[in-house]
Amino acid sequence: MKKIHLICAARPNFVKLAPLFHALKNETWCQTYIIHTGQHYDAALSDIFFKELKLPIPHFNLNIGSGTHAEQTGKTMMAYEVLLIQEKPDFVIVFGDVNATLACTIAAKKLGITVVHVESGLRSYDRSMPEEINRMVVDRLSDILLTPSNDANENLLKEGVDNSKIHLVGNIMIDSLVSLRDLIERKNTLNDLQVTPHNYCVLTLHRPSNVDNHNYLEEILCSIPSNIDIVFPVHPRTMEVLINNFNLKNYPKIKFIKPLPYSDFIKLISHSSFIVTDSGGVQEESSYLGVPCFTLRNNTERPVTITHGTNHLVNTENLSESIRKVVNSEVVPALIPMWDGKTAHRIKKILKEYTNK
Ligand code: UD1
Repeated sequence: MKKIHLICAARPNFVKLAPLFHALKNETWCQTYIIHTGQHYDAALSDIFFKELKLPIPHFNLNIGSGTHAEQTGKTMMAYEVLLIQEKPDFVIVFGDVNATLACTIAAKKLGITVVHVESGLRSYDRSMPEEINRMVVDRLSDILLTPSNDANENLLKEGVDNSKIHLVGNIMIDSLVSLRDLIERKNTLNDLQVTPHNYCVLTLHRPSNVDNHNYLEEILCSIPSNIDIVFPVHPRTMEVLINNFNLKNYPKIKFIKPLPYSDFIKLISHSSFIVTDSGGVQEESSYLGVPCFTLRNNTERPVTITHGTNHLVNTENLSESIRKVVNSEVVPALIPMWDGKTAHRIKKILKEYTNK
């Protein structure tokens, strides 16, 4: 019986972990445990996701909380090392690019444990992003690299990763979207927020480069066309900047709301006219749903959302013009190979093959 640890820490991790947990939970060849490092601890960013995604309470919670990058990474390594020595898992599976992904990879590899990286090979080639550093180090150390799209395979091969370690499995986030589609459809989110379909846009912002400087954040808010309602579920980091520097009454077109549960958020974006964001996952979800997405960043580690999907890189100067051009043209959902809701099953098959080696 193989022991598997699934690592999660922050909101997007939960959506990536859930399909794999459900695919593995009844298998007789493995026992699967959820390790929550505690990076996201607010109920709206964590507990509500566990509930909707039908995940059990994490088997272990390291309760690391917020801090600087070194604090978060260092504390997570120290706490997880203790657990690794006690529990001795055969596989540690890490997701995405958050600080816990990096910390748990290093801790596990130093104890000689096999590390599997889900969402491997993505690169923005921008080292000013903490996530890019995390992605590079995690991929360098991982034993099994599971990629969402072909560009990721190419990046890894360019970096000299042995082809036998790389497996194209597709986008596991889309598995969650596909499996919860009925729940999402039943949601009353639009009524609750008093918006009408295709007559509003959704805004999400949490990257330090967009929100930490309040003058720039103000520039962003003012650059979105004012002829449409804007629904803005606000991340706690962004909320702190808003509360300390803004009079929210000066933005009558913007509905500032708390972070939404997963199903409400997907319902909201799927019926919106367009999305303005700096999130990685939202670029993918909007491409899958066929909703125009404007990403306030200079680059993206998810280029397939631009080449195959509905995503556009923008800045505050060209946002308004880009929106005008795109919303008047026909947009169709992206057909990206293996973004089909079956990624977790492909991963399960690969893991099983490795256990028989
Ligand atoms: C983290 C990830 C980012 C991911 C994002 C999704 C890293 C380097 N960053 O960014 O890649 O896109 O999660 O949301 O791992 N806070 C709360 N409650 C919480 C968690 C955080 O109030 O439950 C506040 C704290 O003030 C904290 C700040 O938000 O200092 C930032 O949180 P943190 O977990 O450090 O990074 P995120 O910006 O959420």
